[in-house]
Amino acid sequence: MTCTIIVGGFFGDEGKGKIVAHIAYRDKPGIISRGGVGPNAGHTVTVGEKAYGVRMVPSGFVYPDARLFIGTGVLVDPRVFLKEVNLLGVQGRTFVDIRCGIIEEYHIQRDRKDEHLAKTIGSTGTGCGPANADRVLRIGRQAKDVSELKDFLIDVPLEINAALEEGTGVILEGSQGFGISLFFGTYPFVTSKDTSASQIAADNGVGPIRVDDVLVVFKAYPTRVGEGPFSTEMSSETSKNLGIEEFGTVTHRPRRIGEWDGKLAKYSVMVNGGTQAAITGIDRVDHTCFGATRYEQLSKTAREFIDGVEVDIGIPVSLISTGPDISHIIDLREEQ
Ligand code: IMP
Ligand code: MG
Repeated sequence: MTCTIIVGGFFGDEGKGKIVAHIAYRDKPGIISRGGVGPNAGHTVTVGEKAYGVRMVPSGFVYPDARLFIGTGVLVDPRVFLKEVNLLGVQGRTFVDIRCGIIEEYHIQRDRKDEHLAKTIGSTGTGCGPANADRVLRIGRQAKDVSELKDFLIDVPLEINAALEEGTGVILEGSQGFGISLFFGTYPFVTSKDTSASQIAADNGVGPIRVDDVLVVFKAYPTRVGEGPFSTEMSSETSKNLGIEEFGTVTHRPRRIGEWDGKLAKYSVMVNGGTQAAITGIDRVDHTCFGATRYEQLSKTAREFIDGVEVDIGIPVSLISTGPDISHIIDLREEQ
Protein backbone atom coordinates (compact mmCIF):
# COMPACT_ATOMS: atom_id res chain seq x y z
CA MET A 1 0.00 0.00 0.00
CA THR A 2 1.30 3.38 -0.97
CA CYS A 3 0.91 7.12 -0.74
CA THR A 4 -0.29 8.52 -4.07
CA ILE A 5 -0.75 12.19 -4.92
CA ILE A 6 -3.19 13.07 -7.71
CA VAL A 7 -2.88 16.55 -9.23
CA GLY A 8 -4.17 18.49 -12.21
CA GLY A 9 -1.59 19.11 -14.92
CA PHE A 10 -3.23 22.00 -16.82
CA PHE A 11 -5.66 24.69 -15.60
CA GLY A 12 -7.96 22.64 -13.39
CA ASP A 13 -11.05 20.60 -14.24
CA GLU A 14 -8.98 17.83 -15.79
CA GLY A 15 -11.31 15.20 -14.39
CA LYS A 16 -9.26 14.46 -11.27
CA GLY A 17 -12.42 13.61 -9.34
CA LYS A 18 -13.27 10.74 -11.61
CA ILE A 19 -9.67 9.46 -11.60
CA VAL A 20 -9.54 9.58 -7.79
CA ALA A 21 -12.83 7.68 -7.60
CA HIS A 22 -11.61 4.98 -9.98
CA ILE A 23 -8.29 4.53 -8.19
CA ALA A 24 -10.07 4.36 -4.83
CA TYR A 25 -12.26 1.46 -6.03
CA ARG A 26 -9.26 -0.34 -7.49
CA ASP A 27 -6.65 0.28 -4.80
CA LYS A 28 -8.90 0.47 -1.72
CA PRO A 29 -7.06 3.17 0.27
CA GLY A 30 -7.89 3.66 3.93
CA ILE A 31 -7.73 7.46 3.64
CA ILE A 32 -8.46 9.96 0.89
CA SER A 33 -7.36 13.43 1.94
CA ARG A 34 -7.73 16.72 0.15
CA GLY A 35 -5.07 19.31 -0.46
CA GLY A 36 -5.37 22.45 -2.58
CA VAL A 37 -6.99 25.80 -2.04
CA GLY A 38 -10.57 25.31 -0.80
CA PRO A 39 -14.17 25.45 -2.03
CA ASN A 40 -13.14 27.25 -5.24
CA ALA A 41 -12.62 23.69 -6.51
CA GLY A 42 -15.44 21.77 -8.11
CA HIS A 43 -15.07 18.08 -8.82
CA THR A 44 -17.77 16.35 -10.80
CA VAL A 45 -18.16 12.65 -10.14
CA THR A 46 -20.76 10.70 -12.13
CA VAL A 47 -21.97 7.40 -10.75
CA GLY A 48 -24.73 5.76 -12.76
CA GLU A 49 -27.44 8.37 -13.34
CA LYS A 50 -26.22 10.76 -10.69
CA ALA A 51 -23.67 13.56 -11.10
CA TYR A 52 -22.21 15.01 -7.91
CA GLY A 53 -20.52 18.42 -7.91
CA VAL A 54 -18.38 18.49 -4.78
CA ARG A 55 -16.33 21.43 -3.55
CA MET A 56 -15.05 20.48 -0.09
CA VAL A 57 -15.46 16.75 0.55
CA PRO A 58 -12.78 14.76 -1.32
CA SER A 59 -14.16 13.42 -4.60
CA GLY A 60 -13.10 9.94 -3.48
CA PHE A 61 -16.24 9.95 -1.29
CA VAL A 62 -17.94 7.57 -3.75
CA TYR A 63 -15.65 4.83 -2.42
CA PRO A 64 -17.41 4.00 0.86
CA ASP A 65 -14.59 2.33 2.79
CA ALA A 66 -12.15 5.25 3.03
CA ARG A 67 -12.02 7.91 5.67
CA LEU A 68 -12.21 11.35 4.06
CA PHE A 69 -10.02 14.19 5.30
CA ILE A 70 -9.52 17.86 4.56
CA GLY A 71 -5.84 18.67 5.00
CA THR A 72 -4.38 21.41 7.19
CA GLY A 73 -3.49 23.69 4.30
CA VAL A 74 -7.00 23.75 2.83
CA LEU A 75 -9.56 26.51 3.47
CA VAL A 76 -12.91 25.37 4.80
CA ASP A 77 -16.21 27.16 4.28
CA PRO A 78 -18.20 25.56 7.13
CA ARG A 79 -21.55 26.11 5.41
CA VAL A 80 -20.43 24.45 2.18
CA PHE A 81 -18.76 21.63 4.09
CA LEU A 82 -21.73 20.83 6.35
CA LYS A 83 -24.17 20.97 3.44
CA GLU A 84 -22.07 18.51 1.41
CA VAL A 85 -21.57 16.14 4.32
CA ASN A 86 -25.34 15.93 4.78
CA LEU A 87 -26.11 15.70 1.09
CA LEU A 88 -23.57 12.93 0.47
CA GLY A 89 -24.27 11.11 3.74
CA VAL A 90 -20.61 10.90 4.70
CA GLN A 91 -20.97 11.76 8.40
CA GLY A 92 -18.85 9.55 10.64
CA ARG A 93 -16.03 9.14 8.12
CA THR A 94 -15.32 12.73 7.12
CA PHE A 95 -12.91 14.89 9.11
CA VAL A 96 -11.29 18.31 9.02
CA ASP A 97 -7.87 19.27 10.36
CA ILE A 98 -8.05 21.42 13.51
CA ARG A 99 -5.93 24.12 11.83
CA CYS A 100 -7.71 24.52 8.49
CA GLY A 101 -8.26 28.19 7.61
CA ILE A 102 -11.89 29.34 7.70
CA ILE A 103 -13.78 31.22 5.00
CA GLU A 104 -16.29 33.69 6.43
CA GLU A 105 -19.04 35.64 4.73
CA TYR A 106 -16.93 38.81 4.51
CA HIS A 107 -14.24 36.90 2.59
CA ILE A 108 -16.85 35.94 0.02
CA GLN A 109 -18.13 39.52 -0.19
CA ARG A 110 -14.59 40.83 -0.65
CA ASP A 111 -13.87 38.25 -3.36
CA ARG A 112 -17.04 39.24 -5.25
CA LYS A 113 -16.84 43.02 -4.84
CA ASP A 114 -13.13 43.58 -5.26
CA GLU A 115 -12.61 44.89 -8.80
CA HIS A 116 -9.18 43.26 -9.13
CA LEU A 117 -10.22 39.80 -7.92
CA ALA A 118 -13.69 39.64 -9.44
CA LYS A 119 -13.03 41.33 -12.79
CA THR A 120 -9.33 41.31 -13.65
CA ILE A 121 -8.47 37.88 -12.28
CA GLY A 122 -11.95 36.41 -12.65
CA SER A 123 -11.92 34.60 -9.32
CA THR A 124 -14.55 32.03 -8.42
CA GLY A 125 -16.04 34.41 -5.82
CA THR A 126 -15.86 31.74 -3.13
CA GLY A 127 -13.76 33.81 -0.71
CA CYS A 128 -10.58 31.77 -1.08
CA GLY A 129 -8.19 34.58 -2.08
CA PRO A 130 -9.21 36.94 0.76
CA ALA A 131 -9.24 34.06 3.30
CA ASN A 132 -5.73 32.97 2.30
CA ALA A 133 -4.62 36.61 2.49
CA ASP A 134 -5.98 36.83 6.05
CA ARG A 135 -4.31 33.55 6.92
CA VAL A 136 -0.97 34.93 5.78
CA LEU A 137 -1.62 38.10 7.77
CA ARG A 138 -2.46 35.84 10.71
CA ILE A 139 -5.85 37.34 11.38
CA GLY A 140 -8.07 34.50 10.18
CA ARG A 141 -9.93 31.88 12.24
CA GLN A 142 -9.07 28.17 12.37
CA ALA A 143 -11.38 25.16 12.19
CA LYS A 144 -10.99 24.47 15.91
CA ASP A 145 -12.64 27.85 16.66
CA VAL A 146 -15.83 26.93 14.81
CA SER A 147 -18.37 25.15 17.05
CA GLU A 148 -20.31 23.66 14.10
CA LEU A 149 -17.17 21.75 13.10
CA LYS A 150 -16.38 20.26 16.51
CA ASP A 151 -17.56 16.73 15.64
CA PHE A 152 -15.33 16.67 12.59
CA LEU A 153 -11.99 17.81 13.97
CA ILE A 154 -8.84 15.70 13.89
CA ASP A 155 -5.09 16.10 13.46
CA VAL A 156 -4.82 15.11 9.77
CA PRO A 157 -1.01 14.73 9.58
CA LEU A 158 -1.05 12.50 12.67
CA GLU A 159 -3.74 10.22 11.20
CA ILE A 160 -2.16 10.02 7.74
CA ASN A 161 1.36 9.34 8.95
CA ALA A 162 0.10 6.68 11.38
CA ALA A 163 -1.81 5.02 8.53
CA LEU A 164 1.27 5.05 6.28
CA GLU A 165 3.33 3.58 9.09
CA GLU A 166 0.84 0.67 9.30
CA GLY A 167 0.94 0.12 5.54
CA THR A 168 -2.51 1.55 4.86
CA GLY A 169 -2.93 3.14 1.41
CA VAL A 170 -3.46 6.90 1.24
CA ILE A 171 -4.55 9.10 -1.65
CA LEU A 172 -3.76 12.80 -1.43
CA GLU A 173 -6.19 14.55 -3.72
CA GLY A 174 -5.11 17.85 -5.24
CA SER A 175 -7.41 20.52 -6.57
CA GLN A 176 -7.10 23.21 -9.23
CA GLY A 177 -4.33 22.71 -11.78
CA PHE A 178 -0.67 23.45 -12.40
CA GLY A 179 -1.31 26.38 -14.76
CA ILE A 180 -3.12 28.32 -12.03
CA SER A 181 -0.50 27.70 -9.32
CA LEU A 182 0.36 30.90 -7.46
CA PHE A 183 4.05 30.04 -7.91
CA PHE A 184 4.30 28.35 -11.29
CA GLY A 185 1.19 29.44 -13.16
CA THR A 186 0.31 32.43 -15.31
CA TYR A 187 0.64 35.03 -12.52
CA PRO A 188 -1.34 37.13 -11.69
CA PHE A 189 -4.09 35.07 -13.35
CA VAL A 190 -3.75 32.27 -10.83
CA THR A 191 -5.32 30.98 -7.65
CA SER A 192 -4.19 31.96 -4.15
CA LYS A 193 -1.79 29.06 -3.48
CA ASP A 194 0.61 26.68 -5.15
CA THR A 195 -1.20 23.69 -6.64
CA SER A 196 1.73 21.35 -7.36
CA ALA A 197 2.28 17.93 -5.78
CA SER A 198 4.73 19.24 -3.16
CA GLN A 199 2.06 21.66 -1.95
CA ILE A 200 -0.54 18.90 -1.77
CA ALA A 201 1.85 16.85 0.39
CA ALA A 202 2.54 19.89 2.60
CA ASP A 203 -1.20 20.61 2.87
CA ASN A 204 -1.56 17.22 4.51
CA GLY A 205 1.59 17.22 6.62
CA VAL A 206 3.21 14.46 4.58
CA GLY A 207 6.95 14.74 4.02
CA PRO A 208 8.37 14.39 0.48
CA ILE A 209 10.07 11.03 0.95
CA ARG A 210 6.81 9.45 2.17
CA VAL A 211 5.23 9.90 -1.25
CA ASP A 212 5.43 6.90 -3.59
CA ASP A 213 3.59 8.05 -6.67
CA VAL A 214 2.54 11.33 -8.28
CA LEU A 215 -0.20 10.96 -10.86
CA VAL A 216 -0.65 14.03 -13.07
CA VAL A 217 -4.03 14.30 -14.75
CA PHE A 218 -4.27 15.97 -18.18
CA LYS A 219 -7.21 16.66 -20.39
CA ALA A 220 -6.78 15.78 -24.06
CA TYR A 221 -8.34 19.18 -24.78
CA PRO A 222 -7.37 21.46 -21.88
CA THR A 223 -9.80 24.06 -20.56
CA ARG A 224 -9.48 27.25 -18.60
CA VAL A 225 -12.09 29.26 -16.66
CA GLY A 226 -11.54 32.88 -15.76
CA GLU A 227 -9.01 35.28 -17.24
CA GLY A 228 -5.39 34.76 -18.21
CA PRO A 229 -3.15 33.50 -21.01
CA PHE A 230 -4.00 30.21 -22.67
CA SER A 231 -1.55 29.65 -25.51
CA THR A 232 -3.38 26.80 -27.24
CA GLU A 233 -6.88 28.30 -26.91
CA MET A 234 -9.19 27.77 -29.89
CA SER A 235 -12.11 29.93 -30.96
CA SER A 236 -15.46 28.99 -29.47
CA GLU A 237 -16.60 28.28 -33.03
CA THR A 238 -13.86 25.68 -33.50
CA SER A 239 -14.58 24.01 -30.16
CA LYS A 240 -18.32 23.91 -30.86
CA ASN A 241 -17.61 22.31 -34.22
CA LEU A 242 -15.61 19.67 -32.36
CA GLY A 243 -18.66 19.18 -30.13
CA ILE A 244 -16.88 20.47 -27.02
CA GLU A 245 -18.74 22.77 -24.68
CA GLU A 246 -18.16 22.92 -20.92
CA PHE A 247 -19.30 24.96 -17.96
CA GLY A 248 -17.66 25.42 -14.55
CA THR A 249 -18.87 23.24 -11.67
CA VAL A 250 -18.70 26.13 -9.19
CA THR A 251 -19.26 29.25 -11.29
CA HIS A 252 -21.22 27.84 -14.28
CA ARG A 253 -19.11 30.09 -16.50
CA PRO A 254 -18.31 28.69 -19.95
CA ARG A 255 -14.86 27.11 -20.00
CA ARG A 256 -12.36 28.20 -22.65
CA ILE A 257 -11.16 25.24 -24.71
CA GLY A 258 -7.69 24.61 -26.12
CA GLU A 259 -5.56 22.15 -28.01
CA TRP A 260 -3.17 19.77 -26.24
CA ASP A 261 -0.19 21.77 -24.90
CA GLY A 262 2.88 19.53 -24.89
CA LYS A 263 5.22 22.23 -23.62
CA LEU A 264 3.10 23.05 -20.57
CA ALA A 265 2.49 19.35 -19.93
CA LYS A 266 6.22 18.65 -19.89
CA TYR A 267 6.97 21.50 -17.49
CA SER A 268 4.05 20.47 -15.30
CA VAL A 269 5.30 16.88 -15.02
CA MET A 270 8.77 18.18 -14.17
CA VAL A 271 7.67 20.45 -11.30
CA ASN A 272 5.11 17.94 -10.00
CA GLY A 273 7.67 15.15 -10.08
CA GLY A 274 5.11 13.09 -11.95
CA THR A 275 5.63 9.32 -12.06
CA GLN A 276 2.60 8.55 -14.24
CA ALA A 277 -0.10 10.43 -16.09
CA ALA A 278 -3.80 10.10 -16.75
CA ILE A 279 -5.45 11.42 -19.91
CA THR A 280 -9.11 12.33 -19.75
CA GLY A 281 -11.51 13.02 -22.59
CA ILE A 282 -9.87 10.73 -25.16
CA ASP A 283 -13.37 10.24 -26.59
CA ARG A 284 -13.09 13.82 -27.85
CA VAL A 285 -9.98 12.99 -29.83
CA ASP A 286 -11.94 10.20 -31.46
CA HIS A 287 -15.61 9.63 -30.65
CA THR A 288 -15.34 5.91 -31.35
CA CYS A 289 -13.38 5.55 -28.09
CA PHE A 290 -16.34 6.49 -25.91
CA GLY A 291 -16.75 4.10 -23.00
CA ALA A 292 -13.77 1.88 -23.94
CA THR A 293 -12.35 -0.16 -21.07
CA ARG A 294 -9.44 -1.85 -22.88
CA TYR A 295 -6.52 -0.33 -24.76
CA GLU A 296 -7.20 -2.60 -27.76
CA GLN A 297 -10.57 -0.87 -28.20
CA LEU A 298 -8.90 2.49 -28.90
CA SER A 299 -8.68 3.69 -32.49
CA LYS A 300 -5.39 4.34 -34.27
CA THR A 301 -5.97 8.10 -33.94
CA ALA A 302 -6.41 7.82 -30.17
CA ARG A 303 -3.38 5.56 -29.74
CA GLU A 304 -1.24 7.96 -31.76
CA PHE A 305 -2.44 10.79 -29.56
CA ILE A 306 -1.43 8.87 -26.41
CA ASP A 307 1.96 8.00 -27.95
CA GLY A 308 2.53 11.69 -28.70
CA VAL A 309 1.63 12.63 -25.13
CA GLU A 310 4.14 10.14 -23.76
CA VAL A 311 6.85 11.61 -26.00
CA ASP A 312 5.96 15.09 -24.73
CA ILE A 313 5.94 14.28 -21.01
CA GLY A 314 8.47 11.46 -20.73
CA ILE A 315 6.40 9.39 -18.27
CA PRO A 316 3.85 6.66 -18.97
CA VAL A 317 0.16 7.34 -19.49
CA SER A 318 -1.27 4.72 -17.17
CA LEU A 319 -4.95 5.73 -17.09
CA ILE A 320 -7.14 6.79 -20.01
CA SER A 321 -10.60 8.14 -19.33
CA THR A 322 -13.06 7.43 -22.13
CA GLY A 323 -16.26 9.03 -20.83
CA PRO A 324 -17.82 10.62 -17.74
CA ASP A 325 -18.88 7.51 -15.85
CA ILE A 326 -16.55 5.94 -13.31
CA SER A 327 -16.58 2.74 -15.41
CA HIS A 328 -15.41 4.56 -18.56
CA ILE A 329 -11.70 4.04 -18.06
CA ILE A 330 -8.70 2.07 -19.27
CA ASP A 331 -6.33 1.20 -16.44
CA LEU A 332 -2.89 0.18 -17.73
CA ARG A 333 -1.12 0.31 -14.38
CA GLU A 334 -0.77 -3.44 -13.92
CA GLU A 335 0.63 -3.98 -17.38
CA GLN A 336 3.59 -1.64 -16.83
P1 IMP B 1 -9.81 31.92 -7.12
O1 IMP B 1 -9.07 30.66 -6.83
O2 IMP B 1 -11.29 31.81 -6.81
O3 IMP B 1 -9.18 33.12 -6.48
O4 IMP B 1 -9.75 32.19 -8.69
C1 IMP B 1 -8.53 32.53 -9.35
C2 IMP B 1 -8.46 31.88 -10.72
O5 IMP B 1 -8.34 30.45 -10.57
C3 IMP B 1 -9.71 32.09 -11.59
O6 IMP B 1 -9.30 32.16 -12.94
C4 IMP B 1 -10.51 30.81 -11.37
O7 IMP B 1 -11.38 30.54 -12.45
C5 IMP B 1 -9.40 29.78 -11.25
N1 IMP B 1 -9.78 28.59 -10.45
C6 IMP B 1 -9.81 28.50 -9.10
N2 IMP B 1 -10.16 27.26 -8.72
C7 IMP B 1 -10.36 26.57 -9.85
C8 IMP B 1 -10.71 25.19 -10.11
O8 IMP B 1 -10.92 24.37 -9.21
N3 IMP B 1 -10.79 24.84 -11.43
C9 IMP B 1 -10.54 25.71 -12.44
N4 IMP B 1 -10.21 26.98 -12.24
C10 IMP B 1 -10.11 27.41 -10.96
MG1 MG C 1 -13.30 21.69 -11.24
